[in-house]
Amino acid sequence: MVIASPARIAPEDTLSAAMKKGSAVEHEQAEGSSYMAALLDGRMDAAGYIAYLQRLRLVYDALESTGRALADDPIASAVIDPALDRLPAIDADLQHWAPNGVPEVVSPAAAAYVERITDSVTWGGAFVAHHYTRYLGDLSGGQAIGRILDRSFDLDGAGIAFYAFDEVGKVKPYKDRYRDRLDQVGAAMSYDDRQRLVDEVRLSFGFNQALFEELSELYPGR
Ligand code: HEM
Repeated sequence: MVIASPARIAPEDTLSAAMKKGSAVEHEQAEGSSYMAALLDGRMDAAGYIAYLQRLRLVYDALESTGRALADDPIASAVIDPALDRLPAIDADLQHWAPNGVPEVVSPAAAAYVERITDSVTWGGAFVAHHYTRYLGDLSGGQAIGRILDRSFDLDGAGIAFYAFDEVGKVKPYKDRYRDRLDQVGAAMSYDDRQRLVDEVRLSFGFNQALFEELSELYPGR
């Protein structure tokens, strides 16, 4: 049986609260993926981490190029911020982990996720859902993941640029401002559009889950 977060959002909830509540169960499932568990327990090898970075590269390339196409969109522009861009950090990390280059990545899970992100160019609300799921996650649990990787791979800060958001300033106030901006655009949206946006957040979590499942099969860890 697949357990999911409540399907309908509460009309009185702010958009940021509806997004968080609407994906709480999916978030827990993402935390419980066996790839993540192996990575965080220090049971993943470098090849498994490189494979993750390669998939993230495809995802962030789609997020950041779609974001540029939506720069003037009234909804999407509430969250778009070049200070969040992860592509340069991912490239720097790949250079660290695989200085001699990486094998070509074949990832049906990433391809499906990328297609969905690219399609969100047709509605800023859908783009916001994908933006939130990745970047607010990176600014939240992602921060702890970066610290754990640093310790378990003995990196001394190298190869984990992905987790360092030097240009956003202090993370907690940034996330608070991000949620405020979500709430402002949410207040101007209809209930149905907020519902549609939250549905897209849950879908976005599902694409991430599929990515982890693909990685778990390819790299079960030690
Ligand atoms: C082991 C894996 C993970 C851990 C330990 C983790 C942990 C956390 C924690 C502790 C928070 C709350 C931080 C706060 O309130 O400021 C959080 C928030 C969040 N996480 Fe995760 N997370 C994990 C995986 C993921 C994944 C795979 C995604 C999606 C790709 C994700 C997306 C988010 C989002 C969007 C938030 C913000 C929720 C909100 O405040 O609206 N997380 N995570």
